[in-house]
Amino acid sequence: MGRKKISIIGAGFVGATAAHWAAEKELGDVVVVDIIEGLPQGKALDLFEASPIEGFDARVIGTNSYEETKDSDVVIITSGVPRKPGMSREDLLDVNRKIIESVVAQVVERSPRAFLIIVTNPLDTMTYLAYKKSGFPRERVMGMAGVLDTARFRAFIAMELGVSVEDIQALLLGGHGDEMVPLPRYTTVSGIPLSQLLPREKIERLVDRTRKGGAEIVNLLKTGSAFYAPSAGAVQMAEAILKDKKRILPCCAYLQGEYGLKDICFGVPVKLGAKGVEAIIELELTEEEKALVAKSADSVKKSIAELKL
Ligand code: NAI
Ligand code: 2OP
Repeated sequence: MGRKKISIIGAGFVGATAAHWAAEKELGDVVVVDIIEGLPQGKALDLFEASPIEGFDARVIGTNSYEETKDSDVVIITSGVPRKPGMSREDLLDVNRKIIESVVAQVVERSPRAFLIIVTNPLDTMTYLAYKKSGFPRERVMGMAGVLDTARFRAFIAMELGVSVEDIQALLLGGHGDEMVPLPRYTTVSGIPLSQLLPREKIERLVDRTRKGGAEIVNLLKTGSAFYAPSAGAVQMAEAILKDKKRILPCCAYLQGEYGLKDICFGVPVKLGAKGVEAIIELELTEEEKALVAKSADSVKKSIAELKL
């Protein structure tokens, strides 16, 4: 049995860093595609040249054509424009939709059995677009946002409590925008409910920082957006699929009635395994949480409507 193949579209900050994590974890051979001549080739060769030092066995190919992506098992799509200070993720819709449409068509033609993990923003809308344009079943098209957003929440909680990030489990629902819904009630530190360790006001502050976590990095970097944690999130999803781990992770998935929502891609807890999105888990929510989810869904619906599909 040969190695698995992971193709990464976009050799920018998120794409190249995803290639790094995927190769280092030996998830399979990695193909990086970009439209800029030399960029994917240079980054791929440089990454491959790191393999004797770090000791990973993975072919890493950079290319401007899709031929090398043929029969990919997983395709991570990061191609697109990132935001700059003052921009919302929605400001990227017009330019990124064209990129996603062209990329998805070329990927699907060569890898009809692949799992697609979308990273490009506005995330929920681009995942919806990829789902519709690919013609793939919903189990095989998903977006990465919740893993990143919960990782931010977990990181902030760990910093606040001075405990290991490993012991913090968190959940979150909703779109990848300022109205995302971190769920402190479903957040624990080694099984201890967060509410037993931090006062409500402190938790609220960490929730607010999580919602604005993307902008916090954009404002620091000034020329682009976050990439280490986003790429790690996408690769964690790829790993769950490739190794059939059946992880329970918050992912952007196409909903068909779950949470009372239909025909929308939205962040929900899913079971990720060899069949992709193997299950969507519906949480019991309070009235307050339901209202927050509805608000987030409304803004995602508005964005999806702009696609005029
Ligand atoms: P970047 O600008 O560093 O890289 C994007 C790459 O896409 C560039 O190298 C560009 O040449 C390439 N590209 C553009 N059109 C292409 C096409 N048609 N085919 C192939 N490649 C193409 O941007 P970065 O920082 O890597 O971000 C990428 C995207 O991911 C942005 O839309 C950003 O907003 C999004 N993002 C989403 C996150 C999430 O949580 N879902 C987190 C971080 C970023
Ligand atoms: C983030 O949350 C920009 O969506 C990207 O960092």
